[in-house]
Amino acid sequence: MASLNDLMRLFTLFLSLSLHSASLAPAPAPSLKLPSNNLLESTCKKTREFYTLCMETLESNPETATASSPLDLAEAALKFAAEDTKIASKKLRALLKSKFTQPGLNKGFEICVNWYDMAARQLNMSSQELEDPLSANYDAALANSHESADCENALASAGVHVPEIEAMIKRLRCFCRIAYVVTDALPQEY
Ligand SMILES: *[C@@H]1O[C@H](CO)[C@@H](O)[C@H](O)[C@H]1NC(C)=O
Repeated sequence: MASLNDLMRLFTLFLSLSLHSASLAPAPAPSLKLPSNNLLESTCKKTREFYTLCMETLESNPETATASSPLDLAEAALKFAAEDTKIASKKLRALLKSKFTQPGLNKGFEICVNWYDMAARQLNMSSQELEDPLSANYDAALANSHESADCENALASAGVHVPEIEAMIKRLRCFCRIAYVVTDALPQEY
């Protein structure tokens, strides 16, 4: 049987060990900065020249800002893009109508409005077929078409320079690029 002395020695050893480890392991200081969302960053890097606008856009929406997997992000980003573009399309119509007042300049109006409506439809379609990433990616690619350049050219040749319209065009082009990138990042299922 252990003597009282042995027990005391064990107890002292235990005490000094626990004090020692307690002093060696201070609680980590709480971090003041939120960890950056690497998923948003890696996604936006793939949108290349739209990186800054992509980060601003995805961080502005609670669902895209907190997405934690590529599928979450694709769902949230496509829903956001489709809804935003649908609303923006009404606003663009009104803005363009107020600028394209001269007869003969209606072509620009038609081209831009058609592009917006087409892109809104494609983004919505893409958002509804995420279980089939190839189709979702294909429809996102169609939204991201050359028609944006046709719209920009039509506005330029009609001499229409309205920062608000230009910002809307850039936002939609950015949404289209995001839609392509997030659907491209989904694992393919067969
Ligand atoms: C997307 O399409 C569905 C069905 O086609 C429709 O019910 C829904 O309102 C559309 N959403 C947007 C944002 O356009």
